[in-house]
Amino acid sequence: MIKEMKIALRNAGKINPNSIDDYINADGYQALKMARQMDKAQLISTLEDAGKLRGRGGAGFNTGLKWSSAFKAEGCEKYVVCNADEGEPGTYKDRTIIENDPHTVIEGVLICAYAIGAKECYIYCRGEYEHSISLLRNAIAQAKEKGISAEVKVRVHSGAGSYVCGEETALLNSLEGKRAEPRLKPPFPTTAGFRAKPTVVNNVETFAAVPAIVEKGAEWFRAIGSPEYPGTKVFSLSGDIVHKACFEAPTNVTLRDVIFGFGGGVANGCKLKAIQVGGSSCGFLTPDKLDTSVDFDSMRAIGRALGSGAILVIDDSHNIVDILVGIAEFFNHESCGKCAPCREGTLRAAQLIRNIADGKGSKKDLEQIKDLSEMMGMSCFCPLGQSATAAVTSAMELFPEDFRAKISKQEV
Ligand SMILES: Cc1cc2nc3c(=O)[nH]c(=O)nc-3n(C[C@H](O)[C@H](O)[C@H](O)COP(=O)(O)O)c2cc1C
Repeated sequence: MIKEMKIALRNAGKINPNSIDDYINADGYQALKMARQMDKAQLISTLEDAGKLRGRGGAGFNTGLKWSSAFKAEGCEKYVVCNADEGEPGTYKDRTIIENDPHTVIEGVLICAYAIGAKECYIYCRGEYEHSISLLRNAIAQAKEKGISAEVKVRVHSGAGSYVCGEETALLNSLEGKRAEPRLKPPFPTTAGFRAKPTVVNNVETFAAVPAIVEKGAEWFRAIGSPEYPGTKVFSLSGDIVHKACFEAPTNVTLRDVIFGFGGGVANGCKLKAIQVGGSSCGFLTPDKLDTSVDFDSMRAIGRALGSGAILVIDDSHNIVDILVGIAEFFNHESCGKCAPCREGTLRAAQLIRNIADGKGSKKDLEQIKDLSEMMGMSCFCPLGQSATAAVTSAMELFPEDFRAKISKQEV
C-alpha cells in the first residue's frame, strides 16, 4: 500500500498556524528567498517543464505554463489570485491546508507574484470559512510586519456564497464587484483577468505545493506519484467511510488504498456500492475500479474526473436515486442563471429526479433526463451546467436496478 506523503500539509499538526515564527523555524519562507534570487524564466520553467506541477483545483492545467503566459503578457499591472472558494460538495482540502498552515499558501502566492511581476494578490476565500479567513489575515499581517511581503500587497476577499464563484472567471467578476457569472474564454485570465489585466488564478493546493518544489527541486517533485501528474494530492473523504478526513498521498495511489487504507474502509460493516470521485459534478464508479490510480489522467481514461479530489463513499444500503436528489437540487440552487439551458435544465432535472425518488416517475422521465443531459452538455455556457447531470447519467448506466425499484409500474 502506498503511504501518506505530505507536501501541502507538510507542517500540519507540527506548527501553530497563528505563528509566523513557527513557520520560519520549519524553514518557511526559505523558498521565497531562493525564488527571488532566481531568474524569473528559470523559476517558471522549474514548475513548467521540470516539475510539471498541474493545477489541483480540477482542470489539471500546467501551472508553469499559466505563469509563463502571464509573465510574457504585455503590461506592468498584473495580479495573482488564489482560489480558496471551495464550493464543491464533499471538498474540504483547501480549508484543511489553510487552517493548518496559512503561510505555505501565502508563500506560494508571493513566489508567483515575483515570477510574473505582480504587485497585488488576492485570496478569494469561501465566505463560510470564517476561521480560514481570520488565519489568513493574521498570517498576511505577520508577513508584512517581518518585511516578507513588503513590496506586494496580499488581501483576503470573503466569497459571495455561491458555487459558481469557484469558476475562475466568475470569481474574477465577483472580485471586481460584479455579478458572479462566468466569462467567455478566450481571452483567458492570464491575458485578460482581474480588471482585464494579466492574472494567474491557482487553487490553494497548487500554491501550497510551490514552496517545496522551489526548495527541493523539480526532479524531486517529478519523481513522486504518476509521471504525467506528479506530486501528491490531498483527498477529502466523506460519506459511508470510517475516517472522514483529509489525506495527502502520491498521485499514483489507488482508490483501494485511499478508501480501505487511509479511510479505514466502509463504515457500519456494509459493502461498498459506489464511489464518486471529484465532487457532485462527476460520475460514479463501481468497486471494480478500486485498483485505478486516483490521478488526473487515470480518472479521465476511465471516463471520470479527478476534480477537486473529493471522494464520496456510498454503501449498499442506499438506493442511488435518493442520493441523486441532493445532487440535482444542489445544481438547481447553484445555477447562476446566466444561460437558459443551465437555468431551466437544472430545474427540470431536479424535478424529474425528485419525482422518480418519490415513486412517481416513469420510463419516459428517464428518456427525458438523457435528452436533457445531452442538450445541457452541448449548450450550457460553462462547466457547471455542462456537468450538472454527469452523476445522474452515470447512475442510470451503472445502477439501472435502483431506478427500476423506484419506477414500479413500468420497465426501465
Ligand atoms: C463550477 C465550477 C466551480 C469551481 N470551483 C473551484 C473551486 O472552488 N476552487 C478551485 O480552485 N477551482 C475551482 N474551479 C476551477 C477553476 O475554474 C480553475 O480551473 C482553478 O481555480 C485553477 O487553478 P488550478 O490551475 O491551480 O487548478 C471551478 C470550476 C467550475 C466550472
